[in-house]
Amino acid sequence: MTSQPSPRAPSAVQPILWTGDCLRLLDQRLLPIEERYLDCRSAEDVAAAIHGMAVRGAPAIGIAAAYGLVLALRANPDAFDQADAVLAESRPTAINLRWALARMRGIWTRNHDVDALDREARRIHEEDLSQNLAMGELGAALLPQGARVLTHCNTGALATGGHGTALGVIRTAHAQGKLAAVYAGETRPWLQGARLTAWELQREGIPAKLIADSAAAHLMNTERIDWVIVGADRIAANGDTANKIGTYMLAVAAQRHGARFMVVAPTGTFDPNCASGELIPIEQRGAEELTQFRGSAIAPPGFDAFNPVFDVTPAELIDAIVCERGVIEQPTTAKIRALLA
Ligand code: MRU
Repeated sequence: MTSQPSPRAPSAVQPILWTGDCLRLLDQRLLPIEERYLDCRSAEDVAAAIHGMAVRGAPAIGIAAAYGLVLALRANPDAFDQADAVLAESRPTAINLRWALARMRGIWTRNHDVDALDREARRIHEEDLSQNLAMGELGAALLPQGARVLTHCNTGALATGGHGTALGVIRTAHAQGKLAAVYAGETRPWLQGARLTAWELQREGIPAKLIADSAAAHLMNTERIDWVIVGADRIAANGDTANKIGTYMLAVAAQRHGARFMVVAPTGTFDPNCASGELIPIEQRGAEELTQFRGSAIAPPGFDAFNPVFDVTPAELIDAIVCERGVIEQPTTAKIRALLA
């Protein structure tokens, strides 16, 4: 068994710690009230943590799933298919999960060596961090001096191997002194923006303001917003992008108000097998995410709800997709194919 420490992000936040036989996840359900780690010792533990949102964010769940396979194979070298299935089913929309599992399968098929799997999981984790740092530079270069930006959901160190995708661009741009204003949408119903992005921004000392999701169009109408910057859970071959529910609404409002729209995602988020956005599976979660808050009713008990937790922004509303390999402006199938080739 290898025993090097897990890769460390250049960030105060260390949400994924790997010891070689235990995956320690900073439990995102408890933030920002409590900082407590959840210890996972099997693929089933990891799948439950992903499904239950103890770990969330497309790249982070891919990384966690890769470590989950290592845990399963250390316990039983015949368990690959079973562990792969349980992890793959834990959440449907983020393609990074399946992408990471496919990478792990490639290594396992070649040599049936658990230490090689462990090294691959660490590589996926490390690569995600370096890709985010590269995207941070590329995305920040698109912003004007004194940029005013709006982001959605949580795309920071908590959602990735470190630094973040959209929040990584904001982090890099802040370090370059380029930002005049940062707004974060609260991200109903799970409040990734209010609970997680605000927590990360505060810890990093980046001045920002929280807005109710429903204030976004008014914000764009009454104050200048230069760029809306978001992450992605899956980018179809034509550039249509699935991301946290509310992203599409922001893209529509951005077009109306002359704000530009940037999607920041590593190559593992692209799904060339999915021709366009309507083929992306959209996760539906329970009504209680809307009707309750931390177990307390905020709607009449038993009231039903429609709770899709992702939506699809059509490529024509996206000004730039920033990936670690480069920037695609006004994405098309041909431009995306060329970048991924
Ligand atoms: O349901 P979540 O919190 O996993 O959704 C996360 C998002 O939609 C993020 O924007 C996306 O995964 C990109 S994270 C770098």
